[in-house]
Amino acid sequence: MDRRKFLLNSGLAIGAANLAVACTTKEAVSYSLNDWAGVRAQFPLNPGRIHMAQMFLASHPKLVSDEINMHREKFDSDPIEYWEANFQTAEVKVREAAAKYMGVSQEEIALTDSTTMGLAMMYNGLKLKAGDEILTTTHDHYSTEKCLEFAAAKNGATVRRVSLYRSASATSTEEVTETIRKAIQPATRVVAITWVHSSTGVKLPVSEISKVIAAANATRNESQRIYLCVDGVHGFGVDDAMIPDLGCDFFVAGTHKWMFGPRGTGVLWARKDAANFLAPTIPAFSWGSYGGWMGLFPGQEINFTDLHSPGGFHSFEYRWALNKAFDFHMEIGKSRVWERTRDLSTLLKQQLSEIKGITLHTPLDPALSAGINCFEINGVAPDDWLKRLTAAGIVASTTPYKTVYCRVTPCIVNNEEEVNTVVKVIEGMSV
Ligand SMILES: Cc1ncc(COP(=O)(O)O)c(C=O)c1O
Repeated sequence: MDRRKFLLNSGLAIGAANLAVACTTKEAVSYSLNDWAGVRAQFPLNPGRIHMAQMFLASHPKLVSDEINMHREKFDSDPIEYWEANFQTAEVKVREAAAKYMGVSQEEIALTDSTTMGLAMMYNGLKLKAGDEILTTTHDHYSTEKCLEFAAAKNGATVRRVSLYRSASATSTEEVTETIRKAIQPATRVVAITWVHSSTGVKLPVSEISKVIAAANATRNESQRIYLCVDGVHGFGVDDAMIPDLGCDFFVAGTHKWMFGPRGTGVLWARKDAANFLAPTIPAFSWGSYGGWMGLFPGQEINFTDLHSPGGFHSFEYRWALNKAFDFHMEIGKSRVWERTRDLSTLLKQQLSEIKGITLHTPLDPALSAGINCFEINGVAPDDWLKRLTAAGIVASTTPYKTVYCRVTPCIVNNEEEVNTVVKVIEGMSV
């Protein structure tokens, strides 16, 4: 449904951004996306708990779940007819919404099932050879590390890891960019990084890193060019940057975390002049690719999305509803989402940093942090902390890395009162 139909179908009188919907409690709730309580009313989250781990896996807002249900009903009624009527257009609609949000062209986006799938397609597809080097960091997620390991085992490239900061909370743009500049060697062909580290909450200054790489590339020919690859999942749906402004060549993100998209969705984007450095891994079921294989389009060039969107049939009701998550963010406003997420995190971090016995690992500076906040409490193991928080009705997480920290990630469904309550409960554990 487009927005107009959604409004008409809701059967309610509507002002500009004032909508009224039936929430899952079956009660009509008036809300506006200009108002954070209205945004929260879109989510069927258990109201008895404070949800501060949506970056792990998000609840679907009503706009998204309605769209999933609509597709599901139609698929279940006549799967072949519904697929045939929509398979050429439904994903274009999704990509157009994603492209608008990202500031790119829809033909440069492949739709994936997760960050991990996008990372696998990216790192396994890079046209590297024995002797080439992938420069990466000690701060990346399991999925990046494993994809790099698998890719290097096949193509013979080497993987070198550098630590970008001595202290996460005290790092700076200069420390990060200088470390990368000094680490680049003649054999380096790929720099593999993560926008926001789910291990520490540090947000890398990707656009500044891309300048370091551009300067190195200025002295190299095309066959030696360095490509910048980014796992962007914890900045996507938080930071208001347009993707080309990051200056990277390849960008991957799942959309079932901060974007509040359907579970099992994600994007892979390639800059136009970098796309040829990526070979496809999973055959696309696009008409361009499949029809080309059937000999229908001799001599015709195939664009990035038609070549790289992984094929096989998918949970289409989820994938085809993803445009609603991008519409949701655009309707609220990318900048407002960023400012709200940033402000709630700043409120949390400032208070935590003043509590004796707490070591905050995430920088206070919003230029170097986003919505993930990591810390330790003297004498309290992170797993115990999590159990005690759960008992207090708070949903949080610990970092799934070799070094485990406590992690709290407020987002646009939360408010200042919830942040203050969480701080109070944490403070009670630190004494
Ligand atoms: C930095 C980072 N990358 C990738 C992933 C995996 O994401 P997905 O579940 O979308 O594959 C995670 C998981 O939270 C993560 O923290």
